[in-house]
Amino acid sequence: MAPHHSRQIIATSALPYANSSLHLGHLLEVFQTDAWVRFQKMRGHQCFYIGGSDSHGTPIMIQAEKLGISPEQLVRQISAEHQQDCADFCIEFSNFYTTHSAENQQLVESIYQAHLAQGNIHKRTIKQAFDPEKKMFLSDRLIKGECPKCGAQNQYGDNCEACGATYSPTELRHSYSTLSGAKPIQKSSEHYFFKLQHFETMLHEWTRQGHLQASVTHKLDEWFNAGLEEWDISRDAPYFGFKIPGESEKYFYCWLDAPVGYLASFKNYCDKTPGMDFAHFWKKDSTTELYHFIGKDIMYFHALFWPAILSGAGYRTPTQIKTHGFLTINGQKMSKSRGTFIKARTYLDHLHPDYLRYYFAAKLNEHIEDIDIQFDDFIQRINADLIGKYVNIASRCANFINHSFSGQLSTTLAEPALYNEFANAGNEIAEKFDQLAYSQAVRHIMALADRANQYIDEKKPWAMIKDASRSNEVHDVCSMGIQLFRLLTLYLKPILPKTTEAAEQFLNSAPLMWEAKDKPLLGHRINAFHPLLQRIDKKQVDAMIDQEKQTAAETRLEIKKSYVSIDDFAKIDLRVAKIIQANHVKGADKLLQLQLDLGDESRQVFAGIKSAYSPETLIGKLVVVVANLEPRTMRFGVSEGMVLAAGPGGEAIWLLSPDSGATPGMKIK
Ligand code: 2FM
Ligand code: ZN
Repeated sequence: MAPHHSRQIIATSALPYANSSLHLGHLLEVFQTDAWVRFQKMRGHQCFYIGGSDSHGTPIMIQAEKLGISPEQLVRQISAEHQQDCADFCIEFSNFYTTHSAENQQLVESIYQAHLAQGNIHKRTIKQAFDPEKKMFLSDRLIKGECPKCGAQNQYGDNCEACGATYSPTELRHSYSTLSGAKPIQKSSEHYFFKLQHFETMLHEWTRQGHLQASVTHKLDEWFNAGLEEWDISRDAPYFGFKIPGESEKYFYCWLDAPVGYLASFKNYCDKTPGMDFAHFWKKDSTTELYHFIGKDIMYFHALFWPAILSGAGYRTPTQIKTHGFLTINGQKMSKSRGTFIKARTYLDHLHPDYLRYYFAAKLNEHIEDIDIQFDDFIQRINADLIGKYVNIASRCANFINHSFSGQLSTTLAEPALYNEFANAGNEIAEKFDQLAYSQAVRHIMALADRANQYIDEKKPWAMIKDASRSNEVHDVCSMGIQLFRLLTLYLKPILPKTTEAAEQFLNSAPLMWEAKDKPLLGHRINAFHPLLQRIDKKQVDAMIDQEKQTAAETRLEIKKSYVSIDDFAKIDLRVAKIIQANHVKGADKLLQLQLDLGDESRQVFAGIKSAYSPETLIGKLVVVVANLEPRTMRFGVSEGMVLAAGPGGEAIWLLSPDSGATPGMKIK
């Protein structure tokens, strides 16, 4: 056999955001990468699976704020959770790090400086939506309002979920910040832009040199045709990220430092692993290979920005970007209320990791099609293939070998031709794994499993054993069965790490490498057989879905708890009042002192409306007051109620005012 030339390979999965739990969609991606890495290692290559947490950005900052912890704390917690989920799903990272690290900061800064020096980054002032209350710029996702096309309420700032229209947040009607409820204003600030256009020629070539799937290249052409646009790589404070050198209130956009996190994680790995040289893997024209596994939603970042960023800063570019589709469940988007938004942990609480790994493999291919899980099909498939076909071969043969032949396999092969057929199939299966055509590899492996079962069916060792003179034949047939089982184990190993590890233990075999397929285990002693995998019971799947439904119901209940009952509402005594006096308050910059006529009594109220109203304009105005608010003693006197007003603050405050027919003292219901 020709010796393999050992390749040096880095593989990555997209770094998951450190603000929420992993779900089955994440598992699909890490599985695809992990199986490929395991396969490369079995082929004798040096392959590193580099991962980490994507730790920066506004959603992480906001989530931490909601929980009352620091973003660093949140990131640490979620990152630890992600690592545990992955470990329990048998995902084997060489290193798992974080984008919020010294290594990453240093790398991002040096990459930034390199582009700055080459004139690829420039500054200009732009106008953006700003939350005047929260004092923060708002991304489109943080703005909601009424769709300008169809009028649907509570639509996000970039597109309408009701009619599908896309627009800019300034077109929304009655827009508000989801953080404070305030109406966004337009505010200018200076931003840093990366001139993607400078890389147009390089990218145009790069995207058609075999680094991408054909359909990705095709999709990118739409963007080339529309013209590449410069990319805003900065964000204003408050932000959780790295400060831009020389700035005090500006940060790098998290999508700049996220992919650099691949380098940082690898750097961190090199620094703690003897013999590893960072530059060898990342220098321009490195002979090592680099593969990024990603979902189709982030191909713009990985197939355009990323090669441009890398090449401009003097690093190597990716060997390939391997893009996959989304995960659907029972043909639909994952849904919390249907219980199909399944978290990794919930799955792992109920089911063996290899079940899902196998099912993903049976469905995955090298294309960008979406992958669907049908749970009935899942149960049927695992039980039929893994238990009914694969494990069955071992359980049919093992006991004869162990009980009648003291665990010793025959010294010759009963059917050398059959063995060769299985061993040769390994070449094609290897090709399929390498190309990510996992479903074809699985189909091939299961056809072999059928063939092995058919062989045992034909020979009927359970009948032969009754005839003492045929004992040798039983030995040979069952040994042959075990040899075939071993080859199936070898082929399934990238997909089923846990089950095949138990099988290796049963086979009393060193960890199987791909080339071991050509050497049968002759005259070898095996170990006692324990069932390697149990059948799935539908109840386990139901319990998993019920658990997610339950979680969704509890969340709805939480939201409900914040409702106000009609009885609660009735406790508030809202009245019409007339402002009879209004005065400035010495030493108060927001308050006005109001004297209100409530029909049969007069009240003093301090109201924070000074920035919007001057006292003389208020006299005679009808307003709405909370009349039974507990009196509050302030520095300036007692406030005996509250005047209702709307608006974000500053000059934008509007007193609620009843129509002119209302008279002071009237109850509002
Ligand atoms: O889309 C996402 O989930 C991002 N956190 C992926 C980042 S991939 C890489 F660039 F870090
Ligand atoms: Zn609409």
